Amino acid sequence: MAKDDNSGKDLTAADSSTVGHEGAPAGTAVVVRDAVANPGFPPHRPRVTDLNPSAERQAERAVYTLFYLSIVGSVFAIIAYMAFPIIEEDPSSVRLNNLFIGLGLTLALLAIGIGAVHWGKALMFDHEGVDERHPVRGSDETRERAVEIFHEANVESGIGRRTLIRNSLIGALIAFPLPAVVLFRGLGPQDTNPSALLEHTMWKKGTRLAIDPTGTPIKASDVTLGSAFHVIPEGLQDLGHGKLEEKAKAAVLLMRLKPEDINEPADKKDWSYNGIVAYSKICTHVGCPVALYEQQTHTLLCPCHQSQFDVTNQCEVIFGPAKRPLPQLPITVDSEGYLIAQSDFTEPVGPSFWERN
Ligand code: FES
Repeated sequence: MAKDDNSGKDLTAADSSTVGHEGAPAGTAVVVRDAVANPGFPPHRPRVTDLNPSAERQAERAVYTLFYLSIVGSVFAIIAYMAFPIIEEDPSSVRLNNLFIGLGLTLALLAIGIGAVHWGKALMFDHEGVDERHPVRGSDETRERAVEIFHEANVESGIGRRTLIRNSLIGALIAFPLPAVVLFRGLGPQDTNPSALLEHTMWKKGTRLAIDPTGTPIKASDVTLGSAFHVIPEGLQDLGHGKLEEKAKAAVLLMRLKPEDINEPADKKDWSYNGIVAYSKICTHVGCPVALYEQQTHTLLCPCHQSQFDVTNQCEVIFGPAKRPLPQLPITVDSEGYLIAQSDFTEPVGPSFWERN
């Protein structure tokens, strides 16, 4: 006789008139003769908090103390953030800052977790129930039963009755995200409007265009037809603090086309110099560097999501998810023939979000 692969028990063919088991065609279905009997629930063992009212009160005290402890941890993390600031060039300040903020957050989270588990194990009603499987949309009867279950859960968990636990838990859950708000605020500039910072770059009237990364100023005569340069403002390399932030906004691509290939609106006729044009290198989609120039088609390609910009038409978007052209940097030359900016960009660079004032 055939054996079941997993259990090794004897198998027998079902009657051919029997409907197949779990969709198997009638006649091929098999049934296990000796299915394991449902052992049912183990005997119920009451907990000490079910039998002893003073143990129950003790457990309740422990739970709300843990929730209050969580609030203390959250407040401690905020105070630690202010008391142990990160000082530039001082690695020990970073260590202290991380250590104490971490301790505060750990206490906050652990205390909520342990308190909730202890509440469930020691105080909530301790009985097993069986939920029968049912169709996704329950009958009206089932839905009424669900409402009843919510009501029972409310009664059994004691959340309505045990106000100290409930209120301390609500307080702990409200306090816990507060350190995150403070920490994220600390990532932004402290004394300036962040939006204003994004609207301006290092470029200003007379700033020379320099090769990235050497910082060597570029003469118009160096830019041959079809060539492209990655450009930064002269002096960027001398910046100490904030150099990368400035570069992330001011990076520019410089290209030379035949002047007759460029379509320039009347008000931007003098923004280029002898076919040399400069556009922001920061993609207007989500800010990747637009690093690829196809000189045959005069197309700039952003490798992140394949936005393409037409250099002959003010870098308008010809493909991809970017929603607006790359901002143009107005340029000219100084008395020594070096390429210089006429001004800063006249619109915010980077993702379009920032221009929506
Ligand atoms: S960042 Fe350039 S296409 Fe998405």
